[in-house]
Amino acid sequence: MILVVGGAGYIGSHLVKELVETEEVIVLDHLSTGHREAVDSRAIFVEGNLGNEAELQLIFKRYPIKAVMHFAAFSLVGESVIDPLKYYENNVASTLTLLKVMLENHVKNFIFSSTAATYGIPTVDMIDEKTATSPINPYGHSKLLIEQILADFHAAYGLNYVALRYFNAAGAHESAKIGESHNPETHLIPIILQQLLGHREKIAVFGSDYETPDGTCIRDYIHVDDLASAHILALEALLSEKKSAAIYNLGNGLGYSVKEVIEMCEKVTGIKANVEMAERRAGDPARLVASSEKIFSELGWKAERNLEQIITDAWKWHQNQLY
Ligand code: UFG
Repeated sequence: MILVVGGAGYIGSHLVKELVETEEVIVLDHLSTGHREAVDSRAIFVEGNLGNEAELQLIFKRYPIKAVMHFAAFSLVGESVIDPLKYYENNVASTLTLLKVMLENHVKNFIFSSTAATYGIPTVDMIDEKTATSPINPYGHSKLLIEQILADFHAAYGLNYVALRYFNAAGAHESAKIGESHNPETHLIPIILQQLLGHREKIAVFGSDYETPDGTCIRDYIHVDDLASAHILALEALLSEKKSAAIYNLGNGLGYSVKEVIEMCEKVTGIKANVEMAERRAGDPARLVASSEKIFSELGWKAERNLEQIITDAWKWHQNQLY
């Protein structure tokens, strides 16, 4: 059985939908940002907090858990600057509790959701796993701290782990039954699609004077179902003992500017966007594009869905939402 912590959230719920095809799954989520209805009905659901040690002990004693996948983090960069305690408490302290309970119960396989935010403002065009990590906000720091803890626990206690550094997760499940739903929404693609549906008046482009060809920020958008398939491969690699400690980037290897993303949304939907140029948003690097060569060469994973597919799937899902 696999324990998925944060399995009611955006990325976790997409992973669970794939994982239930081959494994028994138990989801633990405190539903502060996740959605109960997004959890596949084939999974066992427990509402609770990963920082609650007694509750975790009960779960580990009751179910034969062989691996843990951990998605239960707060992930808004701006909020982490304003309220770092919230981020260190949940993303670091609660994760430490989870790891401690795992080890006490002899569960030694862990898959961790890390982030491109660990790189801070990189000086290279293509970021690989050897690129120096230097976070510029508490969110990125919180994730990098856990990566360090995992390396130390691997050396000292034989904890096996894969940390996956996501670039810009986007899109929705091909069934259009689950998708990206944050409140408040801060991410570019849902904001554009909500505007095209008439739920927002304008799209504000945060900065048009970056050192990029069109002056807007470049990101590497990765389909959430491609992220899910990478987790399945990482889990297989741990369970088969092919890997015992690894960090991988997950991206498409292609960068799109904010303007290009808006244009692609217009192309997919056939609707013209209402766009205004705005000030830069604090903490935004100009360009973040991943090399995912390492996970391709070691586990055979590569992204299969391009930006057009990401937006097509997101659009199908957004059209069914009641805002
Ligand atoms: N953007 C706009 N207008 C908006 C929203 C976003 O111009 O209304 C821009 C941002 O400035 C940025 C790009 O669109 O240049 C993408 O922004 P998102 O908020 O969608 O995503 P981020 O790149 O800021 O953040 C994502 C994840 C974080 C993670 C980070 C790693 O959401 O959790 O990547 O770099 F930390």
